[in-house]
Amino acid sequence: MNNIIISILGQRLDNVGFGKKRWFRWRPTFSLLQHHEFQVDEIILLHQEEEKDLLNLTMRDIEQTCLNIDIKTHQLNYQDPWDFEQVYSELHDFAHQYTFDTERNNYYFHITTGSHVAQICIYLLNEANYFPGKLIQSSPSKVSPAGTFRTIDLDLSRYDQIASRFHKESQESISHLKSGIKTRNKRYNELIRELENVAVRSTAPILITGPTGVGKSQLAKRIYELKQRRGQLSGKLVEVNCATLRGDNAMSTLFGHVKGAYTGATSDRAGLLQEADQGLLFLDEIGELGQDEQAMLLRAIEDKIFTPFGSDKEVSSDFQLIAGTNKNLYRRIEKGLFREDLLARINLWRYELPSLKDRYEDIEPNIEYELRRYAQENNQKVSFNSTARSKYLAFAQSSYASWKANFRDLNSSIIRMATLSNGGRITEAIVDNEIHRLQLDWNGAINNRDSSDERLKHLLSADIYEKLDLFERLQLKQVIKICKKSKNMADAGRTLFDKSRLQQSKSNDSQRLRAYLKKYGLEFRNLGH
Ligand SMILES: Nc1ncnc2c1ncn2[C@@H]1O[C@H](COP(=O)(O)OP(=O)(O)O)[C@@H](O)[C@H]1O
Ligand SMILES: [Mg+2]
Repeated sequence: MNNIIISILGQRLDNVGFGKKRWFRWRPTFSLLQHHEFQVDEIILLHQEEEKDLLNLTMRDIEQTCLNIDIKTHQLNYQDPWDFEQVYSELHDFAHQYTFDTERNNYYFHITTGSHVAQICIYLLNEANYFPGKLIQSSPSKVSPAGTFRTIDLDLSRYDQIASRFHKESQESISHLKSGIKTRNKRYNELIRELENVAVRSTAPILITGPTGVGKSQLAKRIYELKQRRGQLSGKLVEVNCATLRGDNAMSTLFGHVKGAYTGATSDRAGLLQEADQGLLFLDEIGELGQDEQAMLLRAIEDKIFTPFGSDKEVSSDFQLIAGTNKNLYRRIEKGLFREDLLARINLWRYELPSLKDRYEDIEPNIEYELRRYAQENNQKVSFNSTARSKYLAFAQSSYASWKANFRDLNSSIIRMATLSNGGRITEAIVDNEIHRLQLDWNGAINNRDSSDERLKHLLSADIYEKLDLFERLQLKQVIKICKKSKNMADAGRTLFDKSRLQQSKSNDSQRLRAYLKKYGLEFRNLGH
């Protein structure tokens, strides 16, 4: 690797007179080349036009003392070395036209000479990677006119002390995102680690998906707090569940309205997007948003402007967006319910939060978290007896525990046991009772979903129902469901025989369906569609 120095010829510091005494004086640019422990292969002297004499002298002296050095020059054309705009543009132009070959060369930008403004500009250009390399700073010494020098690498991650501070700060942020819970699930931990990077570095929309109760809303709130602590947001956190927005109210809640926009609009209203200006807007259940609102939202994200309901004037609002959903948005696009372009916008950073049953390693630390939370909220410390604890944990981590509503279920479960505990001790009896209750809850939910079985029983005569295999029951239930949804028998037939009907020369979907139903003593018109 070659060492290349880029240095501004200093009108004052490099100019110590043209007489012999100059050899015994410190001249930063010249002196920097006099250290044998630092072999320089090339120097680029940046100079102003009026410094021709000083430039020539310096070049001659360098040539005389350093044998194998290449000397290049570049003229800077600013009138006033203290004018930030002029100096920055000139240095930026130099950086732009010069080809830096960092594979072959180490570049050092000398910041001792030049006006303070020039030094600041070099620093800025270095930090923004326009000047790739290290900064070098030199100073006089009592011992030798060569003086001393030190390099400064703005790649802060190379400094152990600074890197460990960054690491500590990042760990604190990660822990904040995890609500202080020491989670062990690999997938979840990796997700949060990346999310921390993104939250700190980016203002692009973030999409958080996952089933109910996995912590989407809580995570959005934590991201807001994190960004706020880092001074990246000054506005509010504004949350809305899109499933609650309907009709005129939806437009107006989000984008505001002007007085008289619709019946009942008795005064102007700002709307949530305005309220979130400089802050964060969390749109929960974004899949439920209506078509018009989706179009308007897309524009508000892309151009940061939108039109309040009933207004002819655009307003602007700058907010960070986090969207949450437990729906598969691709499927909603297929059904024409969600805009593909909107998804593309909000999908840049998508995080799917895993269900609690896929994070069984995290159940234990989460139980601790829920107990702490209970203690804080109720001012009463509660803990398990040790056998009770193992029993509960074994169940909680087993495949019998479906944790259907995820953290909501765990949260309720701990609250129940804590409330029933006497003297803050959760006993085995309480745990047994709780496990029973959870099982009933979860099984109940499954049976509930099967209430269609009851309906089937009702439609069929008892002797037919009794003889049905599970296979037939399942099939029949689906067929009846489709019949109920269809306009008429032909329509239902088309849906049900969608593939095989294409092989038939004459369409007979209705007859086929009629025959199928008849086997079970059913008639289309009695299915209550
Ligand atoms: N990572 C987590 N660990 C433990 N509890 C959590 C976590 N995330 C959320 N919770 C709790 O679970 C419940 C549901 O969280 P929420 O964010 O509302 O879920 P979602 O929005 O996905 O339905 C809340 O009581 C919340 O405090
Ligand atoms: Mg939620």
